[in-house]
Amino acid sequence: MVLWSLVPGALLVVIVVYLCLPGLLRQRGPQEPPLDKGTVPWLGHAMALRKDMFEFMKHMWTKHGDVFTVQLGGQYFTFVMDPLSFGPILKDTQRKLDFSKYAEELVLKIFGYYAKGEKKQNIHSTSTKHLMGHDLEDLNKVMVDTLSLIMLGPKSRSLDASCWREDGLFHFCYNTMFKAGYLSLFGSTKDKEQDLLQAEEIFTHFLRFDHLFPKFLYSLLGPREWLEMGRLQRFFPKMLSMKHNQKEGISNWISSLRQFLREQGVAPHMQDKFNFMILWASQGNTGPATFWALLFLLKHPEAMQAVREEATQVLGGARLEAGQSFPLQPTALRCTPVLDSVMEETLRLRAAPTLCRVVCEDYILKMASGKEYLIRRGDMMALFPYLSVHMDPDIHPEPTAFKYDRFLNPDGSRKVDFYKAGKKIHHYSMPWGSGVSICPGRFFALSEMKLFVLLMVRYFDLELVDPDIPVAPVNPKRWGFGIMHPNHEVRFRYRLQPAE
Ligand code: HEM
Repeated sequence: MVLWSLVPGALLVVIVVYLCLPGLLRQRGPQEPPLDKGTVPWLGHAMALRKDMFEFMKHMWTKHGDVFTVQLGGQYFTFVMDPLSFGPILKDTQRKLDFSKYAEELVLKIFGYYAKGEKKQNIHSTSTKHLMGHDLEDLNKVMVDTLSLIMLGPKSRSLDASCWREDGLFHFCYNTMFKAGYLSLFGSTKDKEQDLLQAEEIFTHFLRFDHLFPKFLYSLLGPREWLEMGRLQRFFPKMLSMKHNQKEGISNWISSLRQFLREQGVAPHMQDKFNFMILWASQGNTGPATFWALLFLLKHPEAMQAVREEATQVLGGARLEAGQSFPLQPTALRCTPVLDSVMEETLRLRAAPTLCRVVCEDYILKMASGKEYLIRRGDMMALFPYLSVHMDPDIHPEPTAFKYDRFLNPDGSRKVDFYKAGKKIHHYSMPWGSGVSICPGRFFALSEMKLFVLLMVRYFDLELVDPDIPVAPVNPKRWGFGIMHPNHEVRFRYRLQPAE
């Protein structure tokens, strides 16, 4: 009896030893980068990274220099911090660094969706094809009308022109962008009121999922949160399932992806999970990004003035009216250099993704300095461009300041010439990732965010409830996942301007 009671304890010891032993035994090899395993077996530096990745990375960079390997939850990540050395990693002519493998594992864990490598590439190219060019022009038209529907309400309930409304700016932007993006991409019905109600319900759940997401990825959810996450993981595929959604005006992007999955013989329940993943990819960043863009504009009157003038120019005398299609000129979004610079600056300041590749075979990392490092098979290569690029004062002087014209040349054209150590730098801002995994929705994302900002500044009066409130700090638990969230809500007021 006594012996049997020792069995679970012995098993636990075996498991712990099995997990920790490789880490305890691993030593830095002759040609390898500095290795920092942290003090906690297996976990390594995972807790410090989760607490505040930006501070952690700054510390590691100062301690080890431009290349270092850290242990995070049993995995070894080699971070490269010199942007002049990014080229070979992102181009990967040696074909030893794999994005698909990493993405597949992540997607399986978060959405329960599994795709084979070949399918992944097709999905990427289908997405790129339908989120730019002609399809993008069609999407823009749908998007602007959907934004108008959400901002003004359905026909019968026009927003009272004289009345100020108060809301949290983050909630307002996320909610509006989510509903407009969701309805424009996934389609709608003739019953607009019902569509808005359904979109609102999905958004409420999406916010919860988004809130739990970073902790979930680090496997740090408490028991109740696990249960809630499980419920959410079942809710989205069900809500987005074709069985429950007979909609019109589904975007070419979504239709083509669905057709592709059907042709590949992907099981219906997997198709539903795929919808969930696509909802997350398409709606998780645009709302938070527009929040920061509007907040920066509200805090920088000269920038607001410049964007307002541009909005008046490109939208001309067009009126925003409930129940009516908005007469958007197809060229309008191509003539907004000031707003383009504002968006680029906003993304530089608040987009903080981690870009990862699995090392499939031992890999020689060639740095721009000429130094070479051996990276072991099975490790991960990682970039955190927010710190190494976006915040580099050599590339972007006063990097923490919002300068609305940072990406404008004196003649008003787009500025693309940036330098590091006197050398022209290709990767001077990387909100969308780069290389094989670059965001295929970036052109649509920019268009929809610009449409939202243009409508807000052109047709609404906007003000912060407390004009002296400093720009909200970011939530440090979300570094590495895309657009940062604020640490707290910011109250604002808005009202539809009287028709001229
Ligand atoms: C501000 C808005 C957005 C930002 C900052 C953003 C950024 C990113 C980043 C950093 C990645 C991953 C790159 C990597 O791992 O190397 C990504 C992937 C992706 N994004 Fe976006 N994105 C945005 C909006 C959108 C929109 C609106 C769509 C679609 C309509 C979209 C579709 C996708 C898809 C499908 C992927 C996965 C690509 C793949 O795994 O091959 N994104 N995005």
